[in-house]
Amino acid sequence: MNPFENLQALYAERPVILAPMEDVTDAVFRKLCRSVGARFCVTEFVNVEGLLRGCRNAKRKISLPEGDAPTVIQIYGSDPERLAEAASVAESAAPTALDINCGCWVPKIAARGAGAGWLRNPAAMVAMAKMVVQRVALPVTVKTRIGYGPESDMPIVDLARRLEDAGVQALTVHCRTAQMGHSGAADWSWAARAREAVSIPVVVNGDIKTADDARRALAETGCAGTMVGRRAIDHPWIFREARTLLDTGVECAPPTWDERIELCKVHLAANVEARGERHGVAVTRRHLTGYLKGIPGAAALRQRLVVTDSMQGCYELLDASREQVAARGTEAA
Ligand SMILES: Cc1cc2nc3c(=O)[nH]c(=O)nc-3n(C[C@H](O)[C@H](O)[C@H](O)COP(=O)(O)O)c2cc1C
Repeated sequence: MNPFENLQALYAERPVILAPMEDVTDAVFRKLCRSVGARFCVTEFVNVEGLLRGCRNAKRKISLPEGDAPTVIQIYGSDPERLAEAASVAESAAPTALDINCGCWVPKIAARGAGAGWLRNPAAMVAMAKMVVQRVALPVTVKTRIGYGPESDMPIVDLARRLEDAGVQALTVHCRTAQMGHSGAADWSWAARAREAVSIPVVVNGDIKTADDARRALAETGCAGTMVGRRAIDHPWIFREARTLLDTGVECAPPTWDERIELCKVHLAANVEARGERHGVAVTRRHLTGYLKGIPGAAALRQRLVVTDSMQGCYELLDASREQVAARGTEAA
């Protein structure tokens, strides 16, 4: 299968995709999500200037360990020529596809014309995408928002058509404007309208927090796939839960307390191996509140975990909690 057919085959599976998230969706987290049902993942966004300078962080972000597939590398920048050059550098890492970030709302990025800044000038966005498409042999995809805000007429539907004409192979729509940031509700109907206008796969993103949300988002929009961001940080089991519901129509059981504790340990160990003990423990903390949700004594356990810098110390706390939970002789509801 060539890379274009491969990508289309992935969308034919109606995927629930792990969203690109800076400082979250690194190789460790992608592997962890795959262990609980994710299949298709996107890297954190990679700055094109960093990539072209050969900066260590950018190189780390595009390096895909064995087994880290299918994974799409996402890049961002404001200069079409630099984006096209960086895309060909990222291509050497052999990702499934290259995604261009046209949705980041953060002012220091969007105000400089990168990310959602492209939405201020849809014609320039399309010309840029075309340039990138022409420069690489891999499929190119775009992730964007419905508009910059507050347009009376959102550009996303016309933009979808023009991006398809430019050779873009799939489009992810975060169903908010850039000005909304992460506030307000995502309006999935825009993904439906974009989907109706094109024949490339459209992925609906925004506020998918449960398996049933994924099911509804696909049913309401007719999109090829869904993409999950923030919920995965706290509850990566959403991939298994959504996949099961979509494939069988039946809800799967939530993770047991034992499984929750085990995932904390696996994530800690993997981050410590990748980043060293202090940093590895620190970056795992943001996930632990979610992973431990609902287990008896979780609040006290979390308070102790946030002041524990060693992996062994964290393991001891988690093992003690596991024993307490086992002593209760009951399981997660
Ligand atoms: C911590 C964080 C980092 C993010 N980084 C990126 C990024 O690098 N590239 C991108 O396209 N979107 C990024 N996003 C946006 C998400 O991919 C997603 O579009 C958004 O969170 C809405 O989906 P959700 O409601 O499932 O979280 C980020 C979001 C969060 C919360």
